Amino acid sequence: MSQIEPTPFTWPHGFIWGSATAAAQIEGAGHAGGKEDSIWDAFARVPGAIAGGDDLETAVDHYHRMPADVALMASLGLDAYRFSISWARVRPCDRALNPEGLDFYSRLVDELLGAGILPWLTLYHWDLPQALEEKDGWANRETAYRFVEYATDVYAALGDRVTHWTTFNEPFCSSLLGYGSGVHAPGRQDGGAAVAAVHHQHLAHGLAVNALRSAGAQHLGITLNLTNAVPRDATDPVDVEAARRLDSLANRIFLEPLLRGAYPVDTLHDLEPFGLAEVIHSDDLSIISAPLDFLGVNHYHDDLVSGHADASASDSHAGGAARSVGSPWIGSEYITFPSRGLPRTAMDWEVNADGLRLLLVRLGEEYEQLPPLYVTENGAAYDDTVSADGSVHDSERTDYIVSHINKVAEAIAAGADVRGYFVWSLLDNFEWSYGYEKRFGIVRVDFDTLQRTVKDSGRRYAAHIRAVHAA
Ligand code: FCB
Repeated sequence: MSQIEPTPFTWPHGFIWGSATAAAQIEGAGHAGGKEDSIWDAFARVPGAIAGGDDLETAVDHYHRMPADVALMASLGLDAYRFSISWARVRPCDRALNPEGLDFYSRLVDELLGAGILPWLTLYHWDLPQALEEKDGWANRETAYRFVEYATDVYAALGDRVTHWTTFNEPFCSSLLGYGSGVHAPGRQDGGAAVAAVHHQHLAHGLAVNALRSAGAQHLGITLNLTNAVPRDATDPVDVEAARRLDSLANRIFLEPLLRGAYPVDTLHDLEPFGLAEVIHSDDLSIISAPLDFLGVNHYHDDLVSGHADASASDSHAGGAARSVGSPWIGSEYITFPSRGLPRTAMDWEVNADGLRLLLVRLGEEYEQLPPLYVTENGAAYDDTVSADGSVHDSERTDYIVSHINKVAEAIAAGADVRGYFVWSLLDNFEWSYGYEKRFGIVRVDFDTLQRTVKDSGRRYAAHIRAVHAA
């Protein structure tokens, strides 16, 4: 039984209620319509890389069921749909354009607009064409220039209808996890490559913002996954130092170049052995800090941090980052994530809705040049059970979503400029290295029949949107 009620709140006029997905996680058609391998297709073939040996070939077949999926979004009353473009569908083998791939997104956009749903487009949600990985991927500066060509092609095709453009989703994962810890594609474990990937993705972002701005785009942004790195004992210098390191690698290495045009001094120092300074060219930071129209914030959980190796470790950080952040390649063997006894989701991520409020408020206080914020992902995986009548009474997920929405309201009341909220995810889907084991959807997908069933959380979210619109 769901317990938590929405707190009465007057939401700002025009506040956007949406849901999010990503191409690789839902589309399927892995090698149809001219699409070639992305790094995730290739990674899925590495034995042991993905739980259950799962792949992305069919995923939830959104590529073929797109009109019905858009109808489902309309039935939920979504204002906006955040989706990503598969680069390997649009430019499958490096540079040549695949019109059939682009056409899929053109049809999707038309379908959304026809249903009165705002398309919120992300250019890069982790699925680099494998053809570019074979040229050293994001460790190669040239990839940033390929990204701008790809972004320009997509803008030329969709810019007449899509108003909101996001360059990257969670560069932390696609650089540091993909190239450093190896838990994400392309599965490399090379500190130098990881640090180069961070910088080259920043550069790609800045170049694309400038290119799309010149082409006429008016709403340009990026989505970061940010955390509150909370020292277990704020009076213990070892714990405080661990929190500083995590804050540097998970937050400030992204926020400061983007919003202030400089890498933090402590980050440059920590990453000296991995050659960060060497990959920065003289004009890069002025390109990277091109003004933004919005910042997307993805948030699932906080991080309580210790610097003591014996602190009871848990694996709560996103995508296995607990292991990666604590691994020697970043020069710290001793970042651990002790438990504070909070409830946890099926990802073993702790539930602490107040962390979202804290983060949104803190960003406004810490960054003078902060653009408007959108919560572009928030949600939870639980092991759903299907009732005899086929319904899914996912009260924990419902409570998670409602309690986080309540905290967004509190953040706005405290002065944070938050203009939208997107629940992750519309559909159960391919959860990266966890395969199909973890379900985040507000709509259940039966992975055998691919049938969609709105869960209680989806109904509740729809009722919330209706109530806000009616107020
Ligand atoms: C985020 C990703 C998204 C999804 C959620 C659970 O890190 O952006 O694709 O996997 O986590």
